[in-house]
Amino acid sequence: MFQIKDKIYWVGIKDWELRRFHGDEYSTHRGSTYNSYLIKDQKIALVDTVWTPFHMEYVEELDKKYGLKNIELIVIQHCEQDHAGSLAYLMDKIPNIPIYCTKKGSEMIRKHFHKDWNLIPVKTGDSVDLGEMKLIFIEAPMLHWPDTMMTYVQGANVLLSNDPFGQHFASPHFYNDQVDQGELYQEALKYYANIITPFNKLVKGKIKELKSLNLPIDIIAPSHGIIWRDNPMQIVEKYDQWASNYHEGSVVILYDTMWGATKRMALAIAKGLEEAGIPTRVLNIAKSDKMILSPRYLKPRV
Ligand SMILES: [Fe+2]
Ligand SMILES: [Fe+2]
Repeated sequence: MFQIKDKIYWVGIKDWELRRFHGDEYSTHRGSTYNSYLIKDQKIALVDTVWTPFHMEYVEELDKKYGLKNIELIVIQHCEQDHAGSLAYLMDKIPNIPIYCTKKGSEMIRKHFHKDWNLIPVKTGDSVDLGEMKLIFIEAPMLHWPDTMMTYVQGANVLLSNDPFGQHFASPHFYNDQVDQGELYQEALKYYANIITPFNKLVKGKIKELKSLNLPIDIIAPSHGIIWRDNPMQIVEKYDQWASNYHEGSVVILYDTMWGATKRMALAIAKGLEEAGIPTRVLNIAKSDKMILSPRYLKPRV
């Protein structure tokens, strides 16, 4: 439980020991966090929950600290289980409260949970008044699933961005200005490469749309990792750059091989590139992590 802004609390879980995400797909050497947020205005709203294995400690802590019966609405921005995994346990305790989600989200929640919950589909621009603050919803389909949306907290200038702008990075700190910038950007870029890259075109469009809304943004609070409060738009600019055919002037050759012949070809290509003065890395995909190995991050730190 940590106050990130007046009346807005981080109520998530820090998963220090996560080493693989999405099954075995993605290595997470710095763990991760499942960021859930509670907005305590005249009405109390809960935005997203946490991954299923943590459902009990998450819900019990919420109850102890805020009282589950005081929560008046839930927003599920994305129903993948790292964000909605505690929903069934939570809803068993407060079964009648409304759940705001996208139209796609309502279909997917029904298919995932098979429960007759009070789902309220919303679209971009729809809002809920909490008293002094207002939640304004912004659909973000495919960033990361068809159901994904973001929530802008008007009155606090906070954008709860769900998967976009996140990182798998557990830290004792909460904010981007408190952590090592190399580590932060390594994790943000790796996250982008593994989760967001297939949707580059949609990223460009969503950033354009976000900018056109002209929302004052003091904080971007994603659903994983560190919260952006120091120049929060820096990560938006980075996404814009990463979505635009991003490269750093080097080449990574990925290969797999049974008896070494393909490896010899890979090394021959690398040799040619190196002779042309192009920094090159050669990776056996059966042995290497699926991640971006940026030469920038391989330089020794001083
Ligand atoms: Fe996701
Ligand atoms: Fe996620």
